[in-house]
Amino acid sequence: MNLKGKKILLRAIEKEDIEFLRTMINDETMERQVGGWSFPISKYEQDKWFESQINNTDSIRCIIELEGSPIGLETLTDIDWKNRKACHGIKLYNEKIRGKGYGTDTLKTIMKYAFEELQLNKLYTTILEHNEVSIKLHKKCGWEIEGTLKESVFKNNRYIDEVQIAILKKQYEEIKEQWK
Ligand SMILES: CC(C)(COP(=O)(O)OP(=O)(O)OC[C@H]1O[C@@H](n2cnc3c(N)ncnc32)[C@H](O)[C@@H]1OP(=O)(O)O)[C@@H](O)C(=O)NCCC(=O)NCCS
Repeated sequence: MNLKGKKILLRAIEKEDIEFLRTMINDETMERQVGGWSFPISKYEQDKWFESQINNTDSIRCIIELEGSPIGLETLTDIDWKNRKACHGIKLYNEKIRGKGYGTDTLKTIMKYAFEELQLNKLYTTILEHNEVSIKLHKKCGWEIEGTLKESVFKNNRYIDEVQIAILKKQYEEIKEQWK
């Protein structure tokens, strides 16, 4: 099912979104803000990746849609169905749409789905130490820092620490009361 937030919609990736995703993953500024990295991705490779995702039950990737247009990507990856946990990722592509609450809306929406539908017990992610906005976003939604991964990522000619941050279902149950 599609996941409705207050303003955004989380829906499956369609073929029409492939170029949007390719633009986002090839964007240098975006790669500097997130822990992941990739070589330049061609149209052919992006198409192949899209095909490979069919029937993938270890990950859920949703387009973040606003008023009918894609604005970003929301992911739950490395889903561990036994230990009930998954790694969370979020990217809003255009800087103009950042800082307007769509990240918060997206995160609350995927948390509700992960805990109340998928029956996960823990969500976690790592955030580059200088990505203050992402750390603030997660803390605002009840996530707690578990520790620091020292010199975990190499970007822009230097090693960068990553913050490991997570939320348990019981913490979600408490904080969601404040969202009503
Ligand atoms: C991180 C990201 C998803 C946040 O989404 P967003 O829509 O911009 O965030 P929101 O508007 O919901 O703001 C969430 C909180 O972040 C903080 N924040 C947002 N914009 C900020 C800014 N420009 N400066 C400082 N703090 C800011 C605020 O504390 C805000 O909560 P508040 O407004 O209630 O105080 C988005 O900026 C993004 O996609 N960035 C690039 C990719 C990325 O960094 N992804 C995360 C990788 S771990």
